[in-house]
Amino acid sequence: MKKSSTKILIADDDAMVRMTVSKILEMFGHLVDTTSDGKGVIDIVDDSYDVIILDINMPDMDGFETMSRLNDLGFDIPVLFLTGAGSMDYAVKAINLGAYDFLTKPIEDLDIFNVKIRRAIEKRMYVLKERQYKSSLEDDIEVKALQLEEQNKLLLTYSNSLENATVQLMSSLQNAMEEKDYYTAGHTMRVTEYALMLGMAMELEENEIRILRRAAQFHDIGKLVIDLSCIQKPGKLTDEEWVLIRKHPTVGANIIQPLGFMEKEQFIIRHHHERMDGKGYPDGLVDEQLDDLTKILIVVDSYDAMTSRRNYRKNMSMEQALVELYNCSGTQFEPNTVEFFARSIVDFTPTKSVFSEEYLENVYKSNSK
Ligand SMILES: [Fe+2]
Repeated sequence: MKKSSTKILIADDDAMVRMTVSKILEMFGHLVDTTSDGKGVIDIVDDSYDVIILDINMPDMDGFETMSRLNDLGFDIPVLFLTGAGSMDYAVKAINLGAYDFLTKPIEDLDIFNVKIRRAIEKRMYVLKERQYKSSLEDDIEVKALQLEEQNKLLLTYSNSLENATVQLMSSLQNAMEEKDYYTAGHTMRVTEYALMLGMAMELEENEIRILRRAAQFHDIGKLVIDLSCIQKPGKLTDEEWVLIRKHPTVGANIIQPLGFMEKEQFIIRHHHERMDGKGYPDGLVDEQLDDLTKILIVVDSYDAMTSRRNYRKNMSMEQALVELYNCSGTQFEPNTVEFFARSIVDFTPTKSVFSEEYLENVYKSNSK
């Protein structure tokens, strides 16, 4: 802030003193305002003043009280006390209140007077510069923070839309490939529905539900990559065919892996054929090595396999499948998950008649989710 001339406020109840001091200051090129008491100072003062000269003894509001009121106002203008006979008590009190300096009256040495005024002005300039620097720094920080926030938002939107686009693309690909495998298509949708039903029954967090949904949606994606024409043929599978089929969790996880944003889903997909007793595949993990979401998928995936008709065997009824789940509870399945599943499946009605043939066909057409 560049100022052409400095502005000084003088308060003294003695008109003669006011006039003399004003004349001297004007002679040195300063702009001067005067008032006869402390109250006048408080009424007039604003940030445009650079120095305040206060008499100590004034009616109503003396110099000390005025100073303390000025401190409250926070303009940070240097105050010089005008004092007659110097008293130590006065000096200490004034310094404690934050007075910048003292001027003796009558003014005898103009040079000293001028030096003191100039120093007070310099002090004020310093305060103003510092204030300006601080506020421009704050503005800068605020602008930078806003820019950063804006960039973060953009980045998040971009990465979300990239994620969604990737998932969409995978879904389309999956739907296209599932046209060749009617069973897997229906199975994927039913498993997803069951997984969400169970996840909600177990009161999972929203984010976990999202992960579970994606994992369920793509849990058998590996099957679409391996040539599994064998599983559609009538009759039982041979040992070689089983070896091939047992590769699908690893293949599925490997398909997801390069995406970089579905790490948890990748784990669930890789391990959806593990068992609590460690006799599952591909890694033979046991109960405590598996997370809740994987345990959910293991249960619902098996349940759907049991209750669906396959070429090589008949399907079980809901009751028969539940008995089987309970029988294998603790060995193949996690008991608490089975318990929750059994309780929620009996009242479960799929919301979008996801199990109907028409729904399946529509999904193929629309290529959605
Ligand atoms: Fe599977």
